[in-house]
Amino acid sequence: MSTPLTIDNLVIVRGTKVAVDGIKINLNPGKITALMGPNGAGKTSTVLGISGVVEPAFGEICMAGRDYKGADSDVIRRAGIATVPEGHQVLRELTVKENLLVAAGDLTGAELTAAIDWIYELFPELRERANHIAGDLSGGQQQMVAIAQALVVTPRFLIIDELSFGLAPAIVNRLVPVIRRIAEKGIGVLLIEQFTQLALKLADHVYVMSRGGISYDGGPEKLRQDPDILHQAYFPVSDREAVGL
Ligand SMILES: Nc1ncnc2c1ncn2[C@@H]1O[C@H](COP(=O)(O)OP(=O)(O)OP(=O)(O)O)[C@@H](O)[C@H]1O
Ligand SMILES: [Mg+2]
Repeated sequence: MSTPLTIDNLVIVRGTKVAVDGIKINLNPGKITALMGPNGAGKTSTVLGISGVVEPAFGEICMAGRDYKGADSDVIRRAGIATVPEGHQVLRELTVKENLLVAAGDLTGAELTAAIDWIYELFPELRERANHIAGDLSGGQQQMVAIAQALVVTPRFLIIDELSFGLAPAIVNRLVPVIRRIAEKGIGVLLIEQFTQLALKLADHVYVMSRGGISYDGGPEKLRQDPDILHQAYFPVSDREAVGL
């Protein structure tokens, strides 16, 4: 079943600060969407709000006629919205295979075998290291395990916060075709990236966030052709004036 994920008027307060100020984001099955923006723009807060880790103050997170705003993170994950949090979080004491089995939850039999086979096809590195302790893997391999954990239940949407953070360029390049294959399977991907090149290379649609709002909503071509749009989001005129530029 192909259904979009529609986020409308999302407001998220962190402490006393409005971190996300009424944004609208649409994700489509089989498409790669990028959410870019500078440090502190509100990207992670948006992810935490969608995944149910932080309760949004306001707004709608709708999929297949249901509003998931304020739902428990477990309910959201079971509904098919999977999140890979920042910083390649894996169960460090367990093996790669055990990490996948824990994430698979109730999945059993042929479904489980098919899911794990698909993951090993995407990441042959993980098949080779199935019995290795996850904490001993490189950062790039741990990021693969983190993505695999989110994929094992074949979600409708996959949200990855800072895919490339802390990874060597060679590893990031290795992940590019994998992200494409995930989308080709019909999964809608939301990539959160502070750095723009990867996002512009992969995305079908781009949102740029600055100061809690969306400052650009459109295709990647326009951002490639007109770097000023991004420059303005990352270095607003008011900031430039403040430092005398
Ligand atoms: N736990 C928290 N308590 C209070 N304020 C927070 C908390 N986490 C984030 N913030 C504030 O919310 C705003 C948005 O932060 P957020 O982490 O969502 O930005 P981001 O776009 O993900 O940035 P980065 O690129 O650094 O990951 C920032 O002003 C930040 O200081
Ligand atoms: Mg962040």
